[in-house]
Amino acid sequence: MITKYRPYLIYKNKKLHFDNINLQALTKKHSTPFYIYSSNLLVENYLNFYNAALENNVSSPLICFALKSNSNHHFLNVLAQLGCGADIVSGGELKAALAAGISGDKIVFSGVGKTADEIELGLKSNLRAFNVESVEELEMINDLAKKSKKVARVAFRLNPEVHAKTHKHISTGNKTHKFGMLIEDVLNLKAKLKKLTSIKVVGMSIHIGSQLTCLKATKKAIARMCSCALHFKETIEFLDVGGGLGIDYNFYDQPKIPSISEYMHMVQKVIQKKYLSLHPCKLQTLFEPGRIIAAKSGIFVTSVIREKKSRDYRFIIVDGGMNDFIRPTLYSAYHEILSNELSSQKLSSADVVGPICETSDCFATNRKLPPMKEGQLLTICDTGAYGASMASTYNSRPLVSELMIEASGKVVKV
Ligand code: LLP
Repeated sequence: MITKYRPYLIYKNKKLHFDNINLQALTKKHSTPFYIYSSNLLVENYLNFYNAALENNVSSPLICFALKSNSNHHFLNVLAQLGCGADIVSGGELKAALAAGISGDKIVFSGVGKTADEIELGLKSNLRAFNVESVEELEMINDLAKKSKKVARVAFRLNPEVHAKTHKHISTGNKTHKFGMLIEDVLNLKAKLKKLTSIKVVGMSIHIGSQLTCLKATKKAIARMCSCALHFKETIEFLDVGGGLGIDYNFYDQPKIPSISEYMHMVQKVIQKKYLSLHPCKLQTLFEPGRIIAAKSGIFVTSVIREKKSRDYRFIIVDGGMNDFIRPTLYSAYHEILSNELSSQKLSSADVVGPICETSDCFATNRKLPPMKEGQLLTICDTGAYGASMASTYNSRPLVSELMIEASGKVVKV
């Protein structure tokens, strides 16, 4: 039996398999909780995105995977081998990208709080660009570049003042948010740039939010970026449309998600109309996707410790906690939860909770699940993005482990 919307999660002989790996059998060698990624799915998800860009005639696409969604070395190495670039926001992510084999010329460095040390490391690594988020940051980059006798390649990350429809914690393109520069501030910089002799403006970028399920605000933001970029057209090499495309976490109760192809079509059309038709040139289009590539490449597997039942409740207590996977706690995020065994027993409502001493340590409420015994597994779906990369050791728990199913079918600890 195939789980309805996920062909890579299949019940064979009533046991759940992920990319053909029997999860229960895996726990003989690897103790729970763990994340497990599939390199086959990762390749497929990357190529779906990249090929959609090509099929929609996007001008020279470069995919800069957002490391914050998953910075596991093996995971990144699979992407590096496909020619993928990186969007990074810290010195740690820069080192991780380089170590995985992504070269500096495919890396863009975003983030509002780049430190002097991180900027120096970026300069040494000959980045594609610093995505600069303030005038003050630009001045610091200029000073540091001058000191090391380099010219820093920069893109202005614009704050396009749009309202992205998503959870308020992950919306980033409005003037009240700390991200990016107002277009008027960027335009006012034109004269000053002549004095910043160690800066070359090579691009413009936006990123207006994450888990976006409507393209309207993104379209408006790209159009605004194009008009601003025209003022710098002599040196602009790329436009970076950011990340943010959402996925269908909940097939049953969620607005229709735009397909990757619809998204690419929109990007191509806006850039053509608002930039290339006014300034025909060899332009590269950068993307910074995280979730759309990583989320469905991995799952989180946890074991039942016990059920706790009383008059008004049924809790399934599992060995994974909010420290291992925090999305439900932080954003009330919905994730599908599958029992490891296909059961003929009656399903009933339960809350799936972890062992951490916080009420918010809860993965799901009111899920229809069969009776669960100690040692049985639950799989939390679509957790390849913002799963392990957000894990902590809260409650003095060990950092969660990660496994990878290699293309050969071999499972390795990564
Ligand atoms: N580029 C920049 C500058 C970003 O800040 C982000 C995400 C991305 C790209 C990638 O966005 P994506 O394609 O993954 O939506 N922890 C939250 C998500 C935070 C996203 C922050 N920025 C979550 O679990 O939903």
